[in-house]
Amino acid sequence: MTENTTHRWIRWPDGGQQQLGFGADYNPEQWPREVWDEDVRLMREAGVNIVSLAIFSWARLQPTADSWDFGWLDRIMDLLHANGIAVDLATATASPPPWLTATHPEILPMDREGRVIWPGGRQHWRPTSPVFREHALALVTAMAKRYGTHPALVAWHVNNELGCHNVYDYSEDAALAFRGWLQHRYGNLEALNHAWGTAFWSQTYSGWEQILPPRLAATHPNPTQQLDFKRFSSDALKDYLRAESEILRSATPDVPVTTNFMVSTGIPAMDYADWAADVDFVANDHYVRPGPQAMDELSFSANRTSNIAGGKPWFLMEHSTGAVNWQPINLAKKPGELARDSLTHVAHGADAVCFFQWRQSSRGAEKFHSAMVPHAGEDSDMFRSVTELGHTLKQLAPVTGSRRRRARAAIIFDWNSWVASEQDSHPTSRFNYHQEALDWYSALLALGVRADVVPFETELGQYDVLIAPGLYLLTADGAGRLNDYVHAGGHLVTTYFSGIVNEHDHAWLGGYPGPLRELLGIRIQEFGPLADGDTAELDHGLTGTLWTDRIDVTDGATEVLASYKTGDQAGRAAITRRRTGEGSAAYVSTRLGHHGLEPVLAQLLAAAGVGSELPEALRGRVELAIRENGDSEFWFLVNRTADAVPLAGLDGQRLADAPVSTDMNDGGTNDGGTGDGGTRDGAIAPRGVAILHRGRTPERPRAPHGTESTR
Ligand code: GLA
Repeated sequence: MTENTTHRWIRWPDGGQQQLGFGADYNPEQWPREVWDEDVRLMREAGVNIVSLAIFSWARLQPTADSWDFGWLDRIMDLLHANGIAVDLATATASPPPWLTATHPEILPMDREGRVIWPGGRQHWRPTSPVFREHALALVTAMAKRYGTHPALVAWHVNNELGCHNVYDYSEDAALAFRGWLQHRYGNLEALNHAWGTAFWSQTYSGWEQILPPRLAATHPNPTQQLDFKRFSSDALKDYLRAESEILRSATPDVPVTTNFMVSTGIPAMDYADWAADVDFVANDHYVRPGPQAMDELSFSANRTSNIAGGKPWFLMEHSTGAVNWQPINLAKKPGELARDSLTHVAHGADAVCFFQWRQSSRGAEKFHSAMVPHAGEDSDMFRSVTELGHTLKQLAPVTGSRRRRARAAIIFDWNSWVASEQDSHPTSRFNYHQEALDWYSALLALGVRADVVPFETELGQYDVLIAPGLYLLTADGAGRLNDYVHAGGHLVTTYFSGIVNEHDHAWLGGYPGPLRELLGIRIQEFGPLADGDTAELDHGLTGTLWTDRIDVTDGATEVLASYKTGDQAGRAAITRRRTGEGSAAYVSTRLGHHGLEPVLAQLLAAAGVGSELPEALRGRVELAIRENGDSEFWFLVNRTADAVPLAGLDGQRLADAPVSTDMNDGGTNDGGTGDGGTRDGAIAPRGVAILHRGRTPERPRAPHGTESTR
């Protein structure tokens, strides 16, 4: 789990540990040799100090089963090192070469309909294939042997985005491995039959060999089989990560090993909180998803990544300078967004900012994907913005190694609930776990209240307020932890579709939300999901969509904070809270959306004594994230608007600004972002970020939950 994360950061070749990483995926094999010299010249100009190399180089490194060609990689490693650029070296196993798939088609994955995933793209390999593993690990061994002592090497990059395209494989290899995983989990068939509820629809197994991955079926496949298959698929890739890592660690015990997670794909494929202990530092890739909550989602993802990393610094391995190539419409970034997006990740604990990719490809599927050096070349606004960002990151060197300051409120983001809540044959197919959690986060941002996004396994008692949206899958143990939290004075907020099933996806009986009924002082006999376009009006002008619950208040101590005014539940409770000693447990039974959640959250936070640390004029317009180190605090103030925001009422040295020269309103000293301007008032540029260096305010002693006053 996150707590066990072994954290080992990059050791820079020149010993200069006080620097943030800055760079990109670098694919020199796509370019003639003369371009390499221009590349390193421009990298130096931009302040690049690290690149990820050889990610898709297998076919180049091993052109046939028994021939190797390392010469080109030797030369580029040497060239980078001579120019002071460190290398995060990939094991090159991400995309198997044609000779391998031609001689061993049995490594190709199979989809749920039994169709082969053919070569032609990338990552066409079965996570459980022993044949793939044999060939891939031979390559890893060769890479470790050849480059383990190269002075440019500072980290190993296992494969690439494990599971991006091949997480769910339904092949025979997968079936075999799935059975082994199930035997380990359940021990015997009786336990499996119980867990999977196989008395239903005549599904009882009498031999392990009868069990299959959930392939295309006549109708809804067994939900627990599906849930276990997703758990197994995450574990299978983790096992593969371990296999590569073991080789690397035994060859080069001093070189940290990582792989790039995809925390924000919106698809609950990999359980990264569970993987974190297997990497020496957490690395993540993030791509903006356009829409009204795009910025909030970026912050949410960075925040979640930081907490998956146990609050320790992490590595932003990829994001984009501008448009991607894989969305239906690939929007360019607006002025300022490149730096703002990068610095929002830094605000949430990233100690390296890297992009996909260094030089925009001229051919292949990603030729319209932005890069640090665009098709237009160095004489471009893109490259100038990149160079400016490199300069800003240098100014931020003092931030290196600092930890993200824990917030007083947290959102629980639970992988099991995410996976299980979005399976088929549910009361509504419209429930979106990620969106519901993001809405709560947006509401917190709008109120200017810092919050952490944490896995459920986190020590809950650290927080004064815990928000657990859609905690569909709740074990008896998990429910016990929430009960203990509230009885120790914590303030829990949970929502519709929480506490519905146990770890096997078996419904809790006796009324919803099963093991939380007593704590919340309510009982729900029946769900009332809403049709598309239907709404339910609540008190205080609130409007619910998607869902309602038919709530009976079962305890005299339960307060009704809002009732339904229209629809099938009219007159019944919609939002409740039950106090227990110093603590409380609140329940929100409908989807309010982020705007609707704001007043509700404001009321609940105020009762818990949690408020904004920002001056009033900045709340909602600026996101605050704090990093701290020794006697220093770094306040990252991210402008969430397209207007300049006056930065009045906060003292501290202006360490950096992006973009530079932001002094727009009241005559403060404009130091052009050089960081020596001292305390001043000024403005944060539209879509800009200001970073203040402040003396450390002591961490407030933990009083019993919820009794502290708002700062
Ligand atoms: C992923 C991959 C990269 C590239 C980018 C494009 O993050 O790791 O190789 O394909 O997507 O956005």
